[in-house]
Amino acid sequence: MSPFDYAQGDIESMNKNFWTKLKKPIIVLAPMAGINDMAFRQLCKKYGADVVYSEMVSVDGLFYGSDRTFELMKFNKKEKPIVIQLFGCKPELFAKAAKEVEKIGADGVDINFGCPAPKIFKITCGVRLMRDLDLCYEIVKATCNAVKIPVSMKIRTGIGKVTGLDLVNKVKDLPISAIMVHGRSFEQAFRGEADLEAIKRIKQAFKGIVLANGGIFTPEQAKAMLAQTGADGIGLAQGVLGKPWLFKQIKEYLKKGKYKEFSFAQIKKVALEHAALNYKLKGKTGILEMRKHLAWYFKGFPGALDLRKKLVQVETVNDIKIILGK
Ligand SMILES: Cc1cc2nc3c(=O)[nH]c(=O)nc-3n(C[C@H](O)[C@H](O)[C@H](O)COP(=O)(O)O)c2cc1C
Repeated sequence: MSPFDYAQGDIESMNKNFWTKLKKPIIVLAPMAGINDMAFRQLCKKYGADVVYSEMVSVDGLFYGSDRTFELMKFNKKEKPIVIQLFGCKPELFAKAAKEVEKIGADGVDINFGCPAPKIFKITCGVRLMRDLDLCYEIVKATCNAVKIPVSMKIRTGIGKVTGLDLVNKVKDLPISAIMVHGRSFEQAFRGEADLEAIKRIKQAFKGIVLANGGIFTPEQAKAMLAQTGADGIGLAQGVLGKPWLFKQIKEYLKKGKYKEFSFAQIKKVALEHAALNYKLKGKTGILEMRKHLAWYFKGFPGALDLRKKLVQVETVNDIKIILGK
């Protein structure tokens, strides 16, 4: 089987800019390496995400035919619209990889200009690319020229003296459909407040869809982020770890000004649903990978420490059922 037989290309969804057809504000699952596998994306979709991003996928890995890299591209139609995020630093490999993303029927392709992880930074990828705006331009141009599906990019507010706005202005004549702005600089990494003014300036400078990202953990913070940046939508990352229903709560809050908290019984149900799906998709590995999710689901309850100690040792879905008393 070719790696690209995983999802049959949905030809009809091609040649369309799905971003412009979505109801605003658009609430998306931001890319997260090591987290956004099929099970988590399906769960986020079920609990209200309008769009889901994949984990970042290496353009070099695709070029050299790495099985692990192809595995990251696998998705189910239930997850659509899905955006596959690419990282790398060679424009010609972005073009080849983007074509593969289009071929498997994904709805959009995203370029990673934001990752600060040392192993990515060291190989001149992720946020480090923002130091070389000419190279960023070549990467975006090569990607846009290679495909008909919408191209988006994920950026930070800056690195050193280069701002996110500099990058947006540099590539603004290219047909980019959407930009997710992580409101923190490279220097801030994942700490500190998001710079809402910087996101707002990018929203004012760019005609396409702008998604604001960084530090959204509650529906109230989501509403404030949208109001203060004027963005077309938001990207959620750490806020949905152990809380995929946050998408739904945000939508409820934006519509009615209030939202329901999930009860302990509901959380147990979602955690088990997640574990069963992960087991179905990945077998035993899926359960081992579930351990971190289980610790997130059951954080902050009375007696949670004991519960979590047991949950991080589970080996089967049944172990989880027994511990949760299901
Ligand atoms: C575990 C983890 C993995 C991440 N992986 C990626 C990634 O693959 N690509 C990317 O562009 N950003 C990645 N990010 C950054 C998030 O998409 C997001 O920009 C960042 O966490 C800020 O949002 P938050 O404050 O809501 O978490 C990752 C973040 C986390 C916590």
